[in-house]
Amino acid sequence: MVSVTAATLVAFAAGAIGAPQALIDRRQAPGGCNSTVELDASTNVWQNYKLHANSFYRSEVEAAAAEMSGDAAEAALRVADIGTFLWADTIANIARIEPALQGVPCDEIFGLVVYDLPGRDCAAKASNGELKVGEIDRYKTEFIDVIADIIKAYPNQAFALVIEPDSLPNLVTNIDLQSCQDSAAGYREGVAYALKTLNLPNVVTYIDAGHGGWLGWDENLTPGAQELADVYIAAGSPSQVRGIATNVAGWNQWDMVPGEFADDPDAQYNQAQNEKLFLELFSPELEAAGMPGHAIVDTGRSGNPGGRLEWGDWCNVVDAGFGRRPSADTGSEWADAFVWVKPGGESDGTSDSSADRYDEFCGKPDAFQPSPEAGQWHQAYFEMLIENANPAI
Ligand code: GLC
Repeated sequence: MVSVTAATLVAFAAGAIGAPQALIDRRQAPGGCNSTVELDASTNVWQNYKLHANSFYRSEVEAAAAEMSGDAAEAALRVADIGTFLWADTIANIARIEPALQGVPCDEIFGLVVYDLPGRDCAAKASNGELKVGEIDRYKTEFIDVIADIIKAYPNQAFALVIEPDSLPNLVTNIDLQSCQDSAAGYREGVAYALKTLNLPNVVTYIDAGHGGWLGWDENLTPGAQELADVYIAAGSPSQVRGIATNVAGWNQWDMVPGEFADDPDAQYNQAQNEKLFLELFSPELEAAGMPGHAIVDTGRSGNPGGRLEWGDWCNVVDAGFGRRPSADTGSEWADAFVWVKPGGESDGTSDSSADRYDEFCGKPDAFQPSPEAGQWHQAYFEMLIENANPAI
């Protein structure tokens, strides 16, 4: 997992005397590894690294716990110790990354979601982005390049990246919408640029692939795999891409049989009734299309199935609970790890129907109301996730 080559040692020694710019810019976090990290994306790095419980989420959770009392408050504080991804969801929020990189133990991997494409969230409204369709140059220079510089400044830190949730899956299933047609070229160019620019030795990358209730439909499997693989190949088949992230901010069960929606009349057209089955169908399609098919699966809010009225419901689902803990022990040849990607307690979207980013899914009877804007802290929802957690917190 961590290797110091002779060349690296020479470079360090050189840095001590006449430091080249790259070494001057190196900002070594106290508490981290003392040698450069080189991840081999042909292996499952989660066998060697634990997902880091980042300090940004910790501060959100500690503030939440301060509003609670007794056993519930103690349980809340335990959530802060569970590995969770940090979201770079705006240019301004890139500033959250560096403080969170201080003091990461050497055997922990820092999870980062890259999420700010121009025309983001083309098939919904709740997470519409700051960048407009066409602002691809800003995406490259003010967002991706800046993140790349930070990762380069921490060569001793391992990073796991999830690239642009929902973006390419929307191009597969929602391309009938004008907004997704408008976004398509920027999504493809932006994701390819991110994969290429962030292809650094201390990084392992997973491209978002929706979930079984999305690309798992019979007619979506092959086009879905083709869409992702085309972008991966356009990026030059970057060495650090390991495969896909599934169920990001989602609600699906890992291996429940029969599936949560197996009684639905449409179930005959979807054999991906849980995420494990989804990988068994989708990952081979990816490999056939020329892209690695290994996966990480977000299990953060999958603890208490049954809240959704329909499989596609995605906004602050009622009765949800925290789910399986991050672990590399998945029992699946395709799944590298269970991870928590969506920070449980951050909202999926506002229920205020007068807001610009109000999406009707956030007003459905199975969406928790009231709920604040996407990404904002949602105290009542967080407390519910703890109450319904399985395993218990
Ligand atoms: C939503 C929000 C985004 C936030 C993320 C994680 O997608 O749009 O701002 O960072 O959820 O909570």
